[in-house]
Amino acid sequence: MDTFTVPVVTPPLTMTTPRLILRQWQESDFGPFAVMNADPQVMEFFPSVLTREKSDDMAMRCRDLIAERGWGIWAVALRETGEFIGFVGLHTPGYDLPFTPCIEIGWRLRADTWGKGYCSEAARAALDAGFNVLGLKEIVAFTALPNLRSQAVMKKMGMVCDPTENFKHPAVAAGDWLEEHCLYRLSKGAWQAT
Ligand SMILES: CC(C)(COP(=O)(O)OP(=O)(O)OC[C@H]1O[C@@H](n2cnc3c(N)ncnc32)[C@H](O)[C@@H]1OP(=O)(O)O)[C@@H](O)C(=O)NCCC(=O)NCCS
Repeated sequence: MDTFTVPVVTPPLTMTTPRLILRQWQESDFGPFAVMNADPQVMEFFPSVLTREKSDDMAMRCRDLIAERGWGIWAVALRETGEFIGFVGLHTPGYDLPFTPCIEIGWRLRADTWGKGYCSEAARAALDAGFNVLGLKEIVAFTALPNLRSQAVMKKMGMVCDPTENFKHPAVAAGDWLEEHCLYRLSKGAWQAT
């Protein structure tokens, strides 16, 4: 039986795409990250917006995990200006879910940057790193059912959803409109065939 081992890469990965850089977090990202996490449009499909303290905690956790493992949820910045626009990256979910242990891909970008293909561009780099550097066999993604924008990116990446794997997220209140989640899976073979 396969056992799940969390890969470690040294030195930590930094990736560039035509327009973006995916990198370790910097202190200067924390302010714009908090502004993004306080935006109700960005946080529409999460239980609440984040306080500055919770936002900083999240940034520090992302930074610590990248320092420890060499990969994780990367800060995303525009190459042209260096401006921080959000995060895209890989993570081991902290909750006990029907499909864990696993590695998921996740994303959150500043609303004024949406619709320009930035998430897809960064996600391709993160998936490539996951399969070709970390040697993962599968990467998953999940989101609340109403979050169609995020599911559009999952589909664009070639990820596939089997509705029989829908699940209720344990961190969302029972009966809440965001409780029901869908799961998208992508195998290394399917990624390499795209
Ligand atoms: C999800 C998110 C990262 C996408 O960022 P983005 O840079 O706009 O993504 P892209 O431009 O690469 O792709 C977005 C796709 O969604 C599609 N889309 C946009 N709004 C949509 C909607 N309401 N329904 C379905 N598809 C939609 C776009 O058409 C585009 O697909 P296309 O390129 O085939 O046309 C961004 O919307 C975000 O940060 N949302 C808030 C945080 C969030 O929900 N994170 C995911 C939690 S699981």
